[in-house]
Amino acid sequence: MPPRITPTRGISERVASGRGARVPLVTGTGGAPPEALRRELRSVLIPASRIRSRVGELGRRISADYAGRELVVVGLMNGTVVFLSDLIRQIRLPLSLEFLRATSYRDSTRPGLLTITRTPPVELGGRHVLVVDDILDTGRTLDTVLRRLRRLGPASLRTCVLLDKPERRERPAIADYVGFRIPDVFVVGYGLDLAGRHRNLPYVAIAIPPSGSGGRV
Ligand code: XMP
Repeated sequence: MPPRITPTRGISERVASGRGARVPLVTGTGGAPPEALRRELRSVLIPASRIRSRVGELGRRISADYAGRELVVVGLMNGTVVFLSDLIRQIRLPLSLEFLRATSYRDSTRPGLLTITRTPPVELGGRHVLVVDDILDTGRTLDTVLRRLRRLGPASLRTCVLLDKPERRERPAIADYVGFRIPDVFVVGYGLDLAGRHRNLPYVAIAIPPSGSGGRV
């Protein structure tokens, strides 16, 4: 059964997040995908212009919250690469960048076994660490990463995600900074992929499920 998405309403509501910040809730779509991608994409969910302005807002909030401190930003590869590179350029603080690789979706729209490789080579003890991920879904990835990083004794540990799908949460992982709340649909673009494709799209789009995925997107 395809997700219920109202075709014309766009990003129309704002709701409160766990930390008192207001997070845009995406309740409609941002229009039809380009002709060449209509067989793979159902619709554009969040247009590039809306992502740009929201990433600017997140950067300003993070800069204000950490004013006077130095940040270590830990990006979870590969999906976060586009969001991360835009976000750090909106943060007006001294920061360094580290990466972890977390993989749970292997060429499908269903989660597989979660593997995390590469511990950040820098010393995180006593540092202010901000973990950046593309999307918070079941919460397994962030929960696992946070447990691992907590053991390294950071002065503070927070999380920032571009997208939050609260309907599928299994673990209590909460993001401190959230770009957009979205319904339970499988999305691609702006770094997110389906079997390695579509990371380069400048917008977030709803993917058409590949045959054999049971239709869940
Ligand atoms: P969990 O369930 O651990 O998921 O919170 C986080 C990771 O799952 C991937 N993910 C997606 N990837 N479109 C994607 O391209 C999606 O709709 C989607 N939902 C979850 C993603 O790698 C994320 O870091």
